[in-house]
Amino acid sequence: MQRIVVLASGSGSNLQAVIAGCLNNVIDADVVGVVSNSPGAHALTRAVDAGITAELIVQNDGEARRHYDTRLADAVASFRPDWVVLAGWMRLLTSQFLDRFPGSVVNLHPALPGELPGTNAIERAWGEAVSGKRIASGVMVHLVPDEGVDDGPVLASRVVPVDASGTLDAFAAAIHDTEHQLLVATLAGLCASDSS
Ligand code: GAR
Repeated sequence: MQRIVVLASGSGSNLQAVIAGCLNNVIDADVVGVVSNSPGAHALTRAVDAGITAELIVQNDGEARRHYDTRLADAVASFRPDWVVLAGWMRLLTSQFLDRFPGSVVNLHPALPGELPGTNAIERAWGEAVSGKRIASGVMVHLVPDEGVDDGPVLASRVVPVDASGTLDAFAAAIHDTEHQLLVATLAGLCASDSS
């Protein structure tokens, strides 16, 4: 059985989808730990409610990013993960973290490969659609080999149309639905094909 650790900064709806995917045996893995950098993250509550160990690791005042990333990596490594899944993890990770989990860090981003890296990708795609510059956006799941932002070898992506005559809320809901499906399907494939 593969071991998944999820890093999440916010609501954790994707974490919830991954937990359900494991419980339903769609993903041949267990979520063995959830780590957040944000005290208010609902993802922590979701983890506790599911009986999963949850850890809050906050960057201290004046703490260097690389020092924080070493502490974070130590905490994640203690769960002995096969896969480290960034599901709404809203901090850039340095090589101090990434080099500890080579080939094992998976990121979810609410945009297509090469488009809209960084925060608020859904809102930015919507803005472009409303101003006539875009008719579709999408979702991708990719490996994180280095410090590039929302960039790396693509594992899966799916197009989501934007209906600019609709609402941002409806578009965001379509993106999130697609994320939940694509992340679970991608992890199912990774965990089925990996024998570690
Ligand atoms: C998701 O839309 C995820 O793709 C995005 O944060 C949201 C988290 O939602 N991540 C990024 O933008 C990474 N650049 P959730 O907390 O409900 O899973």
